[in-house]
Amino acid sequence: MLHFDNKIFFATNNINKIQEAQGILSNFGIVIEKIDVKKVEIQSDVLEEIVLYALKKVNKRIIPIIIEDSGLFIEKLNGFPGPYSSYVYKKIGCDGILKLLEGEKERGAKFVSIVGFKKDKLIKIFKGEIVGKIAYKKMGRHGFGFDPIFIPGNIEKTFAQMNLEEKNLWSHRGRAFKALGEWLQSSIKNF
Ligand code: IMP
Repeated sequence: MLHFDNKIFFATNNINKIQEAQGILSNFGIVIEKIDVKKVEIQSDVLEEIVLYALKKVNKRIIPIIIEDSGLFIEKLNGFPGPYSSYVYKKIGCDGILKLLEGEKERGAKFVSIVGFKKDKLIKIFKGEIVGKIAYKKMGRHGFGFDPIFIPGNIEKTFAQMNLEEKNLWSHRGRAFKALGEWLQSSIKNF
């Protein structure tokens, strides 16, 4: 059985991620607090490895804690940018991705989120995934990162055209955090 009050620290500098995670976890009575710890990132093609390594390296006094890593995997580009999404976004942004896919009809892509939870020696990993496609142009002003060019499922709307609640229903992060919330609910004695 797990024991802690209802607060979990989330090691990220991305306020959008905090809001999305809070949107899901508040349904489970859990409060997220942003914490600035250095996330030690190894270079790896596998998001799970990045999260596990970072969790092992995180300051042990700060518990319980969540680390999340996510990426956009584009089929036609053999999964690029994948684990390098953050770097690629900074360098070429949505416009750069649109350019790479110029004239391309096969626009399949997926977003993946790996959420790692750690308390004392216990580490758990949760995965969320959403398959969709890359739009032909940027659409919408909500969200962050590649939201304006990612269309989830078969609808004709990007993540950036959705409010937080709607994005959370579809998104990789929404799904991973829902899995964490359900696990916490069934594992914590004090619930
Ligand atoms: P990281 O998880 O902080 O390593 O960042 C992954 C990168 O993928 C972000 O900087 C974004 O560019 C992109 N990304 C991850 N999740 C999302 C999302 O929900 N919407 C849009 N872009 C995302």
